[in-house]
Amino acid sequence: MDDEDGYFGERVAARYDESSAEMFEPGVVDATVGVLAELAGRGRALELGVGTGRVALPLARRGVPVHGIDLSRAMVARLRAKPGGDAMGVTIGDFATTRVAGTFSVAYLLFNTIMNLTTQAAQVASFRNVAAHLDPGGCFVVEVMVPELRRLPAGQNAVPFRVSPTRWAFDLYDVATQAMSSNYVEVVDGRGEYRSIPFRYVWPAELDLMAQLAGLRLRERWDGWTREPFTGESRQHVSIWEKPTD
Ligand SMILES: C[S@@+](CC[C@H](N)C(=O)[O-])C[C@H]1O[C@@H](n2cnc3c(N)ncnc32)[C@H](O)[C@@H]1O
Repeated sequence: MDDEDGYFGERVAARYDESSAEMFEPGVVDATVGVLAELAGRGRALELGVGTGRVALPLARRGVPVHGIDLSRAMVARLRAKPGGDAMGVTIGDFATTRVAGTFSVAYLLFNTIMNLTTQAAQVASFRNVAAHLDPGGCFVVEVMVPELRRLPAGQNAVPFRVSPTRWAFDLYDVATQAMSSNYVEVVDGRGEYRSIPFRYVWPAELDLMAQLAGLRLRERWDGWTREPFTGESRQHVSIWEKPTD
């Protein structure tokens, strides 16, 4: 870990938007923001792991008051530097436990960020924390990959996901513990640089149980933001749990 900003310190933050360019495509952001704005209605939105504001800023531009939580001052500094970033409420802290004032009609956790919590206890705590922030009838939205164990032949633990002449990236899986890491090797000025981020992978059914422990119930599960059905072939899901009104 580089510093108090966790795995999203200054070096990562400086290149985050560029290195996640596919997630910043207008079609991706618009579809995400559209669903979240609909769920927010006239209420407020809470983003866990708000980062550089990829989704929070356009959601705020749609008229939804957004508050963010993030561990990384370096990431939040990038959010602040963008138009509208200064006006956004952001709390620096761990989203598994950090409380902020008021309640929200939607809370959301995107781009596999639930997996940044590397223990089951912390993932459960994040559901409980969200439930405590939601209005009755409010929703928690998680966007996360389906663990790619079907791509692991017996005896192997690595799944490559980006290979180019200067960049290699691969996930390592430990199927005994659900520990996982994403590993990046990049050639910069002729030298190889290595970076590794630890995760805990998590199954849809396990998330449903975490939601149940927090008093939430599943409302929707889609393959993506355009609301295609989630199937056995889905590689990711967008899941929505709601806090009952009764
Ligand atoms: C992959 S980025 C996603 C940023 C943004 N949500 C997006 O979709 O572009 C993950 C973000 O979550 C933050 N993060 C990771 N673990 C965290 C934790 N336990 N508490 C608060 N923030 C965390 C990181 O600092 C980083 O800004």
